[in-house]
Amino acid sequence: MIAPRLHPDKHIAAQVVAREIADLIEIRSKSGKYTVLGLATGATPLPLYAELIRLHREAGLSFQSVISFNLDEYAGLGPAHPQSYRYFMAEHFFRHIDIAPGNIHIPDGLSTDTTQTCADFEAEITAAGGIDLQILGIGRTGHIGFNEPPSSADSRTRQVHLNDVTRRDNSVFFENLDEVPTSALTMGVATILAARRVELLAFGSGKAAIVRRAMREQPSVDCPATWLQRHAACTFHLDPEAAAMLRD
Ligand code: GLP
Repeated sequence: MIAPRLHPDKHIAAQVVAREIADLIEIRSKSGKYTVLGLATGATPLPLYAELIRLHREAGLSFQSVISFNLDEYAGLGPAHPQSYRYFMAEHFFRHIDIAPGNIHIPDGLSTDTTQTCADFEAEITAAGGIDLQILGIGRTGHIGFNEPPSSADSRTRQVHLNDVTRRDNSVFFENLDEVPTSALTMGVATILAARRVELLAFGSGKAAIVRRAMREQPSVDCPATWLQRHAACTFHLDPEAAAMLRD
C-alpha cells in the first residue's frame, strides 16, 4: 500500500524524513544494532541529505552505526567521474558525515563482470540483514532506481538499458546527451520491495503525472513504481505540486 503524505514544501518534507531516519538510527544503535539505509541520487534527495548533515553537525547524529546501499550507478563511470553516483554521494553526503567508508556500498560502474558484481551486491545486502529503510526518487518513465519499463516485480540487481526519456532528463548534468551512459547497474524491483520501509520523495509539477500513475494504475511492468503498491510500508512524500493530480 502507498500512503501519500503531503508536505508544505520539499524542505519540510526533508526535515520529516530526516527525523524518521535519525530516530531509527538512534533507537537501533542504543541496542547495539546497525541501521541499513538504501540511498538514492538525483536532485530530489538533496534537501534530505542537507538536513541529515545538519543533524550530524548540530544535533550530534552519528552515522557510525549505518551501513548504506545505493540504488544504482551508471555503467562505465568510475568514482572520479563527476557524474558518477559514487562521486555524487561523496560530494553531497558521505564526506560531510561520520559513516565508515567500508560501510558504503554502491554498484561498481567500472565492473568488467557485471553479473558477478550485481550478485555480490545482493549478497552484501543479505549479509547486512536487509535494508531497514529505502529512500527513493521517481523518474518520469516510472523508474525507481534505474528500473525502467518494462521491469518485473521479481527483478534483482542487474545491468539495464537506459531509455531515451531518462537519458534526456539526466543529460542536464552532462556536457551533452552523447555523454550520458546508455546503461546502468541498479537494484531490482524485488530488491527494493524487500526493504522494510520505503520512503519515496517527489517534488515539483514535473512529477505530478507519474506520481498519479504510480499510485493509481494497476501494478505492471509498464510503470515499475506501481509495484510499490504491493509494499506493506511505503510512503510517498509529496509537495503540493507533485500531489496536484491526486485530487479526484
Ligand atoms: C535518476 C536516478 C533515480 C532518480 C531519478 C529522478 O535517473 N537513477 O534514482 O529517482 O533519476 O531524479 P531527480 O530526483 O533528479 O528527478
